[in-house]
Amino acid sequence: MYYSDEIVEEIRAKNDIVDVVSGYVKLQKKGGNHWGLCPFHNEKSPSFSVSGSKQMYHCFGCGAGGNVFTFVMNYENYTFPEAIKLLADRAGVQLPEVEDSAQERQKQNKRARLLEVNKEAAKFFYYQLRSPQGEIGRNYMEKRRLTEETLQHFGLGYAGKSGAQLVQYLKQKGFADEEIKEAGLASYSERYGLTSQFWNRVMFPIQDVQHRVIGFGGRVMGDGEPKYLNSPETPVFDKRRNLYGLNYARTAKAGNIILCEGYMDVIALHQAGFTQAVASLGTAFTSEQASLLHRYTENVLLAYDSDGAGVKAALRGIGILRESGLVGKIINMKPYKDPDEFIKNLGRDAFQERIDGAENSFFFEVRILAENYNMNDPEEKTRFHREIAKKLCAFAEEVERDNYLQAIAEKYFIGIDNLRKLVNSYAAQTGLVKPLERPKTGQAKANAQEENDKRAQRVLLTWICEEPGLYDKIRKYITAKDFTEPLYMQVAEKLFGDLEQSRFNPAGIISMFEDEEEQRQVAQLFNTNLPELSTKQERDKAFHDIILSVKRSSYEFYTAQMGADVNALTRVIEGKKALEELARTHISAD
Ligand code: GTP
Ligand code: MN
Repeated sequence: MYYSDEIVEEIRAKNDIVDVVSGYVKLQKKGGNHWGLCPFHNEKSPSFSVSGSKQMYHCFGCGAGGNVFTFVMNYENYTFPEAIKLLADRAGVQLPEVEDSAQERQKQNKRARLLEVNKEAAKFFYYQLRSPQGEIGRNYMEKRRLTEETLQHFGLGYAGKSGAQLVQYLKQKGFADEEIKEAGLASYSERYGLTSQFWNRVMFPIQDVQHRVIGFGGRVMGDGEPKYLNSPETPVFDKRRNLYGLNYARTAKAGNIILCEGYMDVIALHQAGFTQAVASLGTAFTSEQASLLHRYTENVLLAYDSDGAGVKAALRGIGILRESGLVGKIINMKPYKDPDEFIKNLGRDAFQERIDGAENSFFFEVRILAENYNMNDPEEKTRFHREIAKKLCAFAEEVERDNYLQAIAEKYFIGIDNLRKLVNSYAAQTGLVKPLERPKTGQAKANAQEENDKRAQRVLLTWICEEPGLYDKIRKYITAKDFTEPLYMQVAEKLFGDLEQSRFNPAGIISMFEDEEEQRQVAQLFNTNLPELSTKQERDKAFHDIILSVKRSSYEFYTAQMGADVNALTRVIEGKKALEELARTHISAD
């Protein structure tokens, strides 16, 4: 989806940032700015400021900052197009219909219809639960201690005595047999015609992050097989890419997300105030779901069943979280089976304590591993130590590996030097990682350097966005071509181009990018944490260092390109000159 600069600018202009933010945060005018408690981190005194003249916000506590689009994106965890829609609605701006190909349009229409059928079905189940014949369902919900408020919040329902009723209702609403079938709500048989597989079950509508019903889970009341019946995958129901409860959890702002196994667990947790709980959809947790979670948090707490299957699922989940760069911890549910039963028996405060005491995922893995060995047997104990050493080798970063090594040695009474030797010999044998004493590998070093370089580029762009006046001080030394990351270069080109003409419009820059992930990254570019600086001297020095560092990495980048790129030589010469001059020049950031 692409919106023109003009429409983006119109929407931005019609949504005064002070008004918009006031809808979310209580603001007070002080001096030229408005102040409030930062919604992006926990604080007791206001360090969050909103500027009407700049049409930007900035938190002096956590460094969050940006314009009205980034505010909505960050607060609601929306993508750029989602933020555009919300703000266009708010300001009464009509968004242009986007011209799609006929095929694309047909696909969209079909998806829309499937969502419609699901919505109607959810309504049907919802009213059934409240009808006289729904009494058995209501009794079941009561037995599970769900309040009326919870039933409404999750849109829970009941599928009556026969699978024919739903079909009849949907047909009467104008849906074709084919649509009902394709939505996974019914199937055809010679004997019964088109009937729904959902009958005599309590129904859990499954919603996507935009609160649209995409499928259902139905539970038998009491014992029976299968316990849960889930909708099959359909064009709108992708079980690998959605999570139950995420439509609410994504705005919970708890600093973590709790991942459970069952729908009931999610519901019980939300009812107890833990609105950050989600569950996978009757299938194992996937890497796609992990990336989805990564959009909203860094920290995932696993609240899996305490039985053997739950532990196995947790071990699997830990691996997936790690691969996605998320920090996983494990909530101990014992002596209860799952979060639902835990809350029912011990209540919310006890669960909060379990959250606070959640176990580091590596410690969890080692503890489970230890259960397989008899530590009184020297042979088994040695094998356990070898397994630990092998696991420790998985930490590529030296400091982290050694920290874990020390902690584990202490926990399991292993001589630290012995364990270190074991890790080194194992590492050398398998070539998994280099022994601890060796310096960082060339690759790891290069990666760290690259990350530093990119960070300097981000800081410079954010800084100029915060204080556009600074552009005049750097234009002599830095051009867009000095940003070696392609996306950063594009942003710099536009930003600097605007500033050259005394224009400044970060919102317009975000809209240059069509891809949602890129838009997110651009918004992030304008939200980099700036260094904490109190004195003018510190400020000047930091500013000078950043410019120098951006220039130096650009110089190195183009030096490496020489031979392959005809323009590289020019850049190298220009870069060398600028670096020499920068070394002699004092630049004030004021
Ligand atoms: P309750 O007994 O209602 O408390 O269920 P639970 O939330 O404790 O669920 P459980 O741990 O038994 O199962 C976890 C999840 O696995 C459920 O939410 C379902 O998504 C899925 N599931 C459970 N039983 C079945 C089944 O028989 N078939 C299928 N397809 N999925 C199931
Ligand atoms: Mn349960």
